Amino acid sequence: MSHASDLVAAARREQGVRLPVWFMRQAGRSLPEYRELRKGTSMLQSCMEPGMIHEITLQPVRRHQVDAAIFFSDIVLPLKAMGVDLDIVPGTGPVVANPIRTRADLDQIGSLDPAQVGFVTESITSIVDELGATPLIGFAGAPFTLASYLVEGGPSKDHSRTKSMMAGDPELWDELCRRLVQISSTFLQVQIDAGASAVQLFDSWAGALAERDYRERVLPHSSQVLGSLTGGVPTIHFGVGTAELLPAMAEAGSDVVGVDWRTPLDVASRRIGPDKAVQGNLDPALLLAPWEVLAERVREVIRAGAKAPGHIFNLGHGVPPTTDPGVLTRIVELVHEEAPTIRQEAQA
Ligand code: CP3
Repeated sequence: MSHASDLVAAARREQGVRLPVWFMRQAGRSLPEYRELRKGTSMLQSCMEPGMIHEITLQPVRRHQVDAAIFFSDIVLPLKAMGVDLDIVPGTGPVVANPIRTRADLDQIGSLDPAQVGFVTESITSIVDELGATPLIGFAGAPFTLASYLVEGGPSKDHSRTKSMMAGDPELWDELCRRLVQISSTFLQVQIDAGASAVQLFDSWAGALAERDYRERVLPHSSQVLGSLTGGVPTIHFGVGTAELLPAMAEAGSDVVGVDWRTPLDVASRRIGPDKAVQGNLDPALLLAPWEVLAERVREVIRAGAKAPGHIFNLGHGVPPTTDPGVLTRIVELVHEEAPTIRQEAQA
Protein backbone atom coordinates (compact mmCIF):
# COMPACT_ATOMS: atom_id res chain seq x y z
CA MET A 1 0.00 0.00 0.00
CA SER A 2 2.91 2.35 0.53
CA HIS A 3 3.48 4.91 -2.20
CA ALA A 4 6.73 5.81 -3.90
CA SER A 5 6.33 9.35 -2.59
CA ASP A 6 8.96 12.03 -1.95
CA LEU A 7 8.45 11.50 1.77
CA VAL A 8 9.07 7.78 1.64
CA ALA A 9 12.08 8.30 -0.67
CA ALA A 10 13.58 10.85 1.75
CA ALA A 11 12.99 8.53 4.71
CA ARG A 12 14.79 5.75 2.84
CA ARG A 13 17.68 8.08 1.91
CA GLU A 14 16.81 7.79 -1.77
CA GLN A 15 16.05 11.48 -2.11
CA GLY A 16 16.83 13.70 -5.05
CA VAL A 17 16.66 17.47 -4.76
CA ARG A 18 12.91 17.51 -4.02
CA LEU A 19 12.09 18.18 -0.39
CA PRO A 20 8.87 16.84 1.12
CA VAL A 21 7.17 19.04 3.72
CA TRP A 22 4.48 18.48 6.34
CA PHE A 23 3.84 19.97 9.79
CA MET A 24 3.36 18.28 13.14
CA ARG A 25 -0.12 19.31 14.35
CA GLN A 26 -1.03 20.51 10.85
CA ALA A 27 -4.57 19.36 11.64
CA GLY A 28 -6.03 21.36 14.45
CA ARG A 29 -6.89 24.71 15.86
CA SER A 30 -4.86 26.84 13.44
CA LEU A 31 -7.48 25.95 10.79
CA PRO A 32 -10.89 27.72 10.84
CA GLU A 33 -12.43 24.73 9.03
CA TYR A 34 -11.21 22.51 11.92
CA ARG A 35 -12.68 24.79 14.59
CA GLU A 36 -15.96 24.83 12.67
CA LEU A 37 -16.15 21.04 12.34
CA ARG A 38 -15.21 20.45 15.99
CA LYS A 39 -18.03 22.68 17.35
CA GLY A 40 -20.07 20.64 19.84
CA THR A 41 -17.86 17.52 19.65
CA SER A 42 -15.20 16.75 22.25
CA MET A 43 -11.64 15.94 21.22
CA LEU A 44 -11.96 12.27 22.23
CA GLN A 45 -15.32 11.86 20.47
CA SER A 46 -13.83 13.44 17.33
CA CYS A 47 -10.99 10.93 17.40
CA MET A 48 -13.43 7.99 17.40
CA GLU A 49 -15.74 9.14 14.57
CA PRO A 50 -14.52 7.92 11.15
CA GLY A 51 -16.28 10.74 9.24
CA MET A 52 -14.74 13.39 11.46
CA ILE A 53 -11.27 11.76 11.42
CA HIS A 54 -11.40 11.59 7.62
CA GLU A 55 -12.30 15.28 7.18
CA ILE A 56 -9.85 16.64 9.78
CA THR A 57 -6.97 14.54 8.42
CA LEU A 58 -7.63 15.82 4.88
CA GLN A 59 -8.18 19.51 5.74
CA PRO A 60 -4.50 20.55 5.89
CA VAL A 61 -3.65 18.54 2.76
CA ARG A 62 -6.35 20.29 0.74
CA ARG A 63 -5.43 23.70 2.09
CA HIS A 64 -1.62 23.66 2.18
CA GLN A 65 -0.69 21.01 -0.44
CA VAL A 66 1.61 19.37 2.10
CA ASP A 67 3.37 16.18 1.00
CA ALA A 68 1.80 14.00 3.69
CA ALA A 69 -1.29 13.73 5.83
CA ILE A 70 -0.95 12.80 9.48
CA PHE A 71 -3.71 10.65 10.91
CA PHE A 72 -6.01 12.68 13.16
CA SER A 73 -5.97 11.08 16.59
CA ASP A 74 -4.02 11.52 19.81
CA ILE A 75 -1.31 9.58 21.62
CA VAL A 76 -3.75 8.71 24.44
CA LEU A 77 -6.46 7.36 22.10
CA PRO A 78 -5.42 3.68 22.34
CA LEU A 79 -5.44 3.98 26.16
CA LYS A 80 -8.94 5.45 26.00
CA ALA A 81 -10.07 2.72 23.59
CA MET A 82 -8.83 0.06 26.05
CA GLY A 83 -10.89 1.58 28.81
CA VAL A 84 -8.44 3.79 30.74
CA ASP A 85 -10.45 6.58 32.39
CA LEU A 86 -8.99 9.73 30.83
CA ASP A 87 -10.02 12.92 29.07
CA ILE A 88 -8.35 15.47 26.81
CA VAL A 89 -9.04 18.79 28.47
CA PRO A 90 -9.04 21.81 26.11
CA GLY A 91 -6.00 24.01 26.73
CA THR A 92 -4.47 21.46 29.12
CA GLY A 93 -4.07 18.11 27.39
CA PRO A 94 -4.61 14.52 28.57
CA VAL A 95 -5.82 14.10 32.18
CA VAL A 96 -5.93 10.61 33.74
CA ALA A 97 -8.55 9.90 36.45
CA ASN A 98 -6.53 7.32 38.40
CA PRO A 99 -2.80 7.91 37.95
CA ILE A 100 -0.48 4.90 38.06
CA ARG A 101 1.66 4.96 41.20
CA THR A 102 1.65 1.36 42.48
CA ARG A 103 1.62 -2.18 41.14
CA ALA A 104 -2.11 -2.43 41.82
CA ASP A 105 -2.72 0.59 39.58
CA LEU A 106 -1.28 -1.40 36.67
CA ASP A 107 -4.51 -3.39 36.48
CA GLN A 108 -5.92 -0.53 34.40
CA ILE A 109 -3.45 -1.25 31.63
CA GLY A 110 -4.33 -4.46 29.83
CA SER A 111 -3.42 -5.14 26.23
CA LEU A 112 -4.82 -3.40 23.17
CA ASP A 113 -6.89 -5.57 20.85
CA PRO A 114 -7.03 -4.22 17.26
CA ALA A 115 -10.82 -4.72 17.43
CA GLN A 116 -10.94 -1.92 20.06
CA VAL A 117 -9.70 0.54 17.43
CA GLY A 118 -11.82 -0.65 14.49
CA PHE A 119 -12.68 3.02 13.84
CA VAL A 120 -8.98 3.61 13.05
CA THR A 121 -8.95 0.93 10.36
CA GLU A 122 -12.23 2.20 8.94
CA SER A 123 -11.06 5.84 8.75
CA ILE A 124 -7.64 5.04 7.31
CA THR A 125 -9.19 2.98 4.54
CA SER A 126 -11.28 5.95 3.37
CA ILE A 127 -8.49 8.52 3.97
CA VAL A 128 -5.95 6.57 1.89
CA ASP A 129 -8.54 6.22 -0.84
CA GLU A 130 -9.01 10.00 -1.08
CA LEU A 131 -5.30 10.80 -0.66
CA GLY A 132 -4.28 8.82 -3.74
CA ALA A 133 -0.52 9.27 -4.16
CA THR A 134 -0.08 11.45 -1.04
CA PRO A 135 1.20 9.35 1.87
CA LEU A 136 -0.58 9.05 5.21
CA ILE A 137 1.61 9.08 8.32
CA GLY A 138 0.34 7.02 11.24
CA PHE A 139 1.62 7.64 14.76
CA ALA A 140 1.70 6.55 18.38
CA GLY A 141 3.10 7.84 21.64
CA ALA A 142 6.31 6.14 22.79
CA PRO A 143 6.21 4.26 26.11
CA PHE A 144 7.99 7.00 28.10
CA THR A 145 5.75 9.86 26.94
CA LEU A 146 2.60 7.77 27.46
CA ALA A 147 3.85 6.64 30.88
CA SER A 148 4.49 10.24 31.84
CA TYR A 149 0.78 11.10 31.37
CA LEU A 150 -0.30 7.94 33.20
CA VAL A 151 2.06 8.39 36.16
CA GLU A 152 1.73 12.17 36.56
CA GLY A 153 -2.02 12.09 35.90
CA GLY A 154 -1.69 14.90 33.35
CA PRO A 155 0.78 17.23 31.70
CA SER A 156 3.90 17.90 33.77
CA LYS A 157 6.83 20.29 33.53
CA ASP A 158 9.40 18.28 35.47
CA HIS A 159 8.05 14.69 35.15
CA SER A 160 9.22 14.14 38.74
CA ARG A 161 6.86 11.29 39.69
CA THR A 162 7.71 9.52 36.45
CA LYS A 163 11.45 9.87 37.01
CA SER A 164 11.08 8.82 40.66
CA MET A 165 9.30 5.63 39.65
CA MET A 166 11.91 4.93 37.00
CA ALA A 167 14.77 5.29 39.50
CA GLY A 168 13.01 4.09 42.67
CA ASP A 169 11.04 1.10 41.38
CA PRO A 170 12.57 0.06 38.07
CA GLU A 171 10.67 -3.26 38.10
CA LEU A 172 7.33 -1.46 38.27
CA TRP A 173 8.50 1.04 35.64
CA ASP A 174 9.63 -1.68 33.25
CA GLU A 175 6.38 -3.61 33.72
CA LEU A 176 4.37 -0.46 32.91
CA CYS A 177 6.54 0.13 29.84
CA ARG A 178 6.22 -3.49 28.67
CA ARG A 179 2.47 -3.01 28.61
CA LEU A 180 2.83 0.29 26.78
CA VAL A 181 5.13 -1.34 24.21
CA GLN A 182 2.31 -3.73 23.32
CA ILE A 183 -0.15 -0.84 23.05
CA SER A 184 2.10 1.44 20.93
CA SER A 185 3.16 -1.42 18.67
CA THR A 186 -0.41 -2.60 18.12
CA PHE A 187 -1.69 0.93 17.46
CA LEU A 188 1.06 1.51 14.87
CA GLN A 189 0.58 -1.89 13.25
CA VAL A 190 -3.16 -1.32 12.90
CA GLN A 191 -2.42 1.93 11.05
CA ILE A 192 0.20 0.27 8.82
CA ASP A 193 -2.11 -2.64 8.04
CA ALA A 194 -4.88 -0.18 7.10
CA GLY A 195 -2.62 1.65 4.62
CA ALA A 196 -0.37 4.20 6.37
CA SER A 197 2.80 4.80 4.28
CA ALA A 198 5.01 5.78 7.23
CA VAL A 199 4.68 6.00 11.01
CA GLN A 200 6.02 8.40 13.62
CA LEU A 201 6.76 7.43 17.21
CA PHE A 202 6.29 10.53 19.37
CA ASP A 203 8.53 10.52 22.45
CA SER A 204 7.80 14.20 22.89
CA TRP A 205 9.01 14.51 26.47
CA ALA A 206 12.12 12.26 26.30
CA GLY A 207 14.29 15.39 26.36
CA ALA A 208 13.51 15.70 30.08
CA LEU A 209 15.78 12.71 30.75
CA ALA A 210 19.51 12.35 31.35
CA GLU A 211 21.14 10.17 28.72
CA ARG A 212 21.96 7.44 31.25
CA ASP A 213 18.33 7.08 32.33
CA TYR A 214 17.13 7.28 28.73
CA ARG A 215 19.51 4.49 27.69
CA GLU A 216 18.74 2.28 30.67
CA ARG A 217 14.98 2.61 31.09
CA VAL A 218 13.51 4.09 27.90
CA LEU A 219 15.54 3.17 24.82
CA PRO A 220 14.99 -0.62 25.18
CA HIS A 221 11.21 -0.13 25.20
CA SER A 222 11.15 2.27 22.24
CA SER A 223 13.46 -0.09 20.32
CA GLN A 224 11.00 -2.89 20.92
CA VAL A 225 8.15 -0.85 19.49
CA LEU A 226 10.11 0.11 16.37
CA GLY A 227 11.49 -3.41 15.95
CA SER A 228 8.09 -5.08 16.19
CA LEU A 229 6.54 -3.45 13.12
CA THR A 230 5.96 -5.40 9.93
CA GLY A 231 5.08 -4.11 6.48
CA GLY A 232 8.30 -2.32 5.60
CA VAL A 233 7.06 1.26 5.98
CA PRO A 234 9.61 3.86 7.12
CA THR A 235 9.60 4.95 10.75
CA ILE A 236 10.25 8.40 12.29
CA HIS A 237 11.32 8.81 15.93
CA PHE A 238 10.78 12.27 17.43
CA GLY A 239 11.28 14.09 20.71
CA VAL A 240 11.73 17.67 21.95
CA GLY A 241 14.87 18.93 23.73
CA THR A 242 16.81 15.86 22.64
CA ALA A 243 20.09 17.44 21.47
CA GLU A 244 21.97 15.36 24.06
CA LEU A 245 19.97 12.21 23.28
CA LEU A 246 20.12 12.17 19.48
CA PRO A 247 22.75 9.38 19.22
CA ALA A 248 20.80 7.23 21.70
CA MET A 249 17.45 7.91 20.02
CA ALA A 250 19.00 6.96 16.68
CA GLU A 251 19.94 3.57 18.18
CA ALA A 252 16.27 2.77 18.74
CA GLY A 253 16.14 1.78 15.08
CA SER A 254 13.96 4.25 13.16
CA ASP A 255 14.71 5.27 9.56
CA VAL A 256 14.33 8.98 10.38
CA VAL A 257 15.05 10.98 13.53
CA GLY A 258 12.93 14.07 14.17
CA VAL A 259 14.93 17.03 15.51
CA ASP A 260 13.62 20.06 17.40
CA TRP A 261 14.69 23.63 16.54
CA ARG A 262 17.61 23.77 19.00
CA THR A 263 20.11 21.79 16.90
CA PRO A 264 20.92 22.72 13.28
CA LEU A 265 20.13 19.74 11.04
CA ASP A 266 23.71 19.32 9.75
CA VAL A 267 24.98 19.09 13.35
CA ALA A 268 22.08 16.81 14.32
CA SER A 269 22.73 14.56 11.34
CA ARG A 270 26.36 14.10 12.41
CA ARG A 271 25.16 13.04 15.86
CA ILE A 272 22.51 10.71 14.41
CA GLY A 273 24.85 9.06 11.92
CA PRO A 274 25.02 8.52 8.16
CA ASP A 275 22.44 5.74 8.02
CA LYS A 276 19.41 7.86 8.92
CA ALA A 277 17.40 10.71 7.47
CA VAL A 278 16.37 13.72 9.57
CA GLN A 279 13.06 15.54 9.95
CA GLY A 280 12.59 19.13 11.06
CA ASN A 281 13.26 21.71 12.28
CA LEU A 282 11.97 25.29 11.93
CA ASP A 283 11.29 26.93 15.31
CA PRO A 284 7.45 27.09 15.55
CA ALA A 285 7.72 30.42 17.38
CA LEU A 286 9.08 31.99 14.18
CA LEU A 287 5.75 31.43 12.42
CA LEU A 288 4.79 34.75 14.03
CA ALA A 289 7.84 36.62 12.64
CA PRO A 290 7.68 38.91 9.57
CA TRP A 291 7.57 36.86 6.35
CA GLU A 292 11.02 37.81 5.01
CA VAL A 293 12.68 36.91 8.33
CA LEU A 294 10.79 33.63 8.44
CA ALA A 295 11.54 32.83 4.78
CA GLU A 296 15.28 33.26 5.43
CA ARG A 297 15.04 30.82 8.38
CA VAL A 298 13.18 28.32 6.18
CA ARG A 299 16.02 28.55 3.63
CA GLU A 300 18.55 27.98 6.45
CA VAL A 301 16.75 24.81 7.49
CA ILE A 302 16.72 23.61 3.86
CA ARG A 303 20.46 24.31 3.52
CA ALA A 304 21.38 22.48 6.75
CA GLY A 305 19.05 19.57 5.90
CA ALA A 306 20.74 19.16 2.51
CA LYS A 307 23.83 17.90 4.38
CA ALA A 308 21.90 14.95 5.84
CA PRO A 309 21.44 11.70 3.89
CA GLY A 310 17.71 12.46 3.71
CA HIS A 311 15.54 15.36 4.85
CA ILE A 312 11.82 15.81 5.49
CA PHE A 313 10.98 19.47 6.14
CA ASN A 314 8.88 20.09 9.26
CA LEU A 315 8.75 22.33 12.29
CA GLY A 316 10.83 21.51 15.36
CA HIS A 317 7.55 20.81 17.21
CA GLY A 318 3.82 21.28 16.58
CA VAL A 319 1.98 24.16 14.91
CA PRO A 320 0.87 26.60 17.65
CA PRO A 321 -2.93 27.06 17.64
CA THR A 322 -2.59 30.83 17.04
CA THR A 323 -0.66 30.36 13.77
CA ASP A 324 -1.99 32.16 10.68
CA PRO A 325 -2.58 29.18 8.36
CA GLY A 326 -1.67 31.35 5.35
CA VAL A 327 1.91 31.37 6.63
CA LEU A 328 2.02 27.56 6.53
CA THR A 329 0.77 27.56 2.93
CA ARG A 330 3.51 30.04 1.97
CA ILE A 331 6.16 27.86 3.61
CA VAL A 332 4.99 24.84 1.59
CA GLU A 333 5.17 26.94 -1.61
CA LEU A 334 8.64 28.22 -0.73
CA VAL A 335 9.93 24.73 0.04
CA HIS A 336 8.53 23.33 -3.20
CA GLU A 337 9.84 26.22 -5.32
CA GLU A 338 13.24 26.90 -3.79
CA ALA A 339 14.43 23.66 -2.17
CA PRO A 340 15.64 21.97 -5.38
CA THR A 341 18.05 24.85 -6.12
CA ILE A 342 19.12 25.37 -2.52
CA ARG A 343 19.75 21.64 -2.05
CA GLN A 344 21.69 21.39 -5.30
CA GLU A 345 23.92 24.32 -4.28
CA ALA A 346 24.40 23.02 -0.73
CA GLN A 347 25.35 19.57 -1.98
CA ALA A 348 27.68 20.78 -4.76
O1 CP3 B 1 -2.04 17.21 12.97
C1 CP3 B 1 -1.51 16.37 13.72
O2 CP3 B 1 -0.32 16.46 14.07
C2 CP3 B 1 -2.31 15.13 14.09
C3 CP3 B 1 -2.94 15.14 15.32
C4 CP3 B 1 -2.24 15.00 16.67
C5 CP3 B 1 -2.93 15.42 17.84
N1 CP3 B 1 -2.20 15.01 18.92
C6 CP3 B 1 -4.22 16.09 17.84
C7 CP3 B 1 -4.55 16.96 18.99
C8 CP3 B 1 -1.05 14.39 17.06
C9 CP3 B 1 0.07 13.83 16.22
C10 CP3 B 1 -1.04 14.41 18.49
C11 CP3 B 1 0.02 13.81 19.31
C12 CP3 B 1 0.16 14.23 20.71
N2 CP3 B 1 -0.80 14.41 21.67
C13 CP3 B 1 1.41 14.41 21.34
C14 CP3 B 1 2.73 14.24 20.67
C15 CP3 B 1 3.00 15.40 19.78
C16 CP3 B 1 3.51 16.60 20.48
O3 CP3 B 1 2.83 17.62 20.40
O4 CP3 B 1 4.59 16.52 21.07
C17 CP3 B 1 1.17 14.77 22.68
C18 CP3 B 1 2.22 15.10 23.71
C19 CP3 B 1 -0.23 14.76 22.87
C20 CP3 B 1 -0.98 15.05 24.12
C21 CP3 B 1 -1.86 16.22 23.91
N3 CP3 B 1 -3.10 16.15 23.31
C22 CP3 B 1 -1.60 17.58 24.18
C23 CP3 B 1 -0.35 18.10 24.84
C24 CP3 B 1 -2.69 18.32 23.71
C25 CP3 B 1 -2.85 19.82 23.66
C26 CP3 B 1 -3.72 20.40 24.70
C27 CP3 B 1 -4.25 21.72 24.23
O5 CP3 B 1 -5.47 21.87 24.16
O6 CP3 B 1 -3.44 22.63 23.93
C28 CP3 B 1 -3.62 17.42 23.19
C29 CP3 B 1 -4.90 17.75 22.55
C30 CP3 B 1 -4.88 17.71 21.07
N4 CP3 B 1 -4.37 16.69 20.32
C31 CP3 B 1 -5.42 18.68 20.19
C32 CP3 B 1 -5.23 18.20 18.89
C33 CP3 B 1 -5.68 18.85 17.60
C34 CP3 B 1 -6.11 19.95 20.62
C35 CP3 B 1 -7.52 19.62 20.98
C36 CP3 B 1 -8.51 20.64 20.52
O7 CP3 B 1 -8.53 20.97 19.31
O8 CP3 B 1 -9.30 21.05 21.38
